[in-house]
Amino acid sequence: MAKLSDKTLVIIPTFNEKENLPLIINRLLAAEPERVNVLVVDDNSPDGTGELADDMAAKDERIKVMHRQGKGGLGGAYIAGFKWGLDRDYEILCEMDADGSHAPEQLHLLLDRIDSGAEMVIGSRYVRGGKTVNWPASRQILSRGGNLYASMALGAGLSDITGGYRAYRREVLEGIDLDAVDSAGYVFQVDLAFRAVMAGFDVREVPITFTERELGESKMSGNIVSEAMIQVTKWGAAHRAEQAKNLASEFWRIGSGSFINMFK
Ligand code: GDD
Ligand code: MN
Repeated sequence: MAKLSDKTLVIIPTFNEKENLPLIINRLLAAEPERVNVLVVDDNSPDGTGELADDMAAKDERIKVMHRQGKGGLGGAYIAGFKWGLDRDYEILCEMDADGSHAPEQLHLLLDRIDSGAEMVIGSRYVRGGKTVNWPASRQILSRGGNLYASMALGAGLSDITGGYRAYRREVLEGIDLDAVDSAGYVFQVDLAFRAVMAGFDVREVPITFTERELGESKMSGNIVSEAMIQVTKWGAAHRAEQAKNLASEFWRIGSGSFINMFK
């Protein structure tokens, strides 16, 4: 029987990932030879990742490449990749880092969960069975702290809302106004998950093993962290204000109704 995962696009954003790109693509196509196409979204990497991606694409039609003008952040790269995939006939669109942190051999865990009913799946380091390997304590603290802060501010009910190993049904991305998403850095992950939960989509988590890269460098920066803090605080405050407004109007509706009834 046909499954949604038969038409899957895995989007891999790259900035200076020349050593990692062949490794990740070969692993992915070995793990999922039939049902997956790959879209590399390269931000004009100075190390030549984009040309390497073109060379690989010329030899295998499952590999596609998008070139962007310059380093425009993870959020912009994914939005451009999602739009490319939504314009074609893919049913599931996935996010995967280029550096091997997200094991292609675990992609089936996400795809199976979508095939069995979930609308969006996050590969989580922080549900039972999930873990991180070789991650320095500083990054673990940042990630745990970021998730704790986001869950207190937003109450989205997710253990790894910053995680970047994901699968979306196309309806989820069509149901979110992608043009309204302006998160540039990694807070994009929080932004999209929060929008999906608020829109009422069925968002699930499956345990994954996140392994720190061995080659190349992380693009995490102070700007990415401060954008995340500011945005999450802003969304949290807006969300709480909205809840308070709804509570007040409900209270008023019930209260005024019973007041009127007293005089009937
Ligand atoms: N096209 C493009 N443009 N790609 C980018 C950019 C950019 O501006 N910035 C980063 N990337 C790509 C990297 O090349 C890599 O493939 C992927 O995005 C993740 O970047 P890393 O720099 O390796 O991220 P990390 O390991 O520090 O962070 C991971 O954990 C974060 C916190 O959970 C990622 O999984 C993030 O997505 C996640 O939010
Ligand atoms: Mn990484």
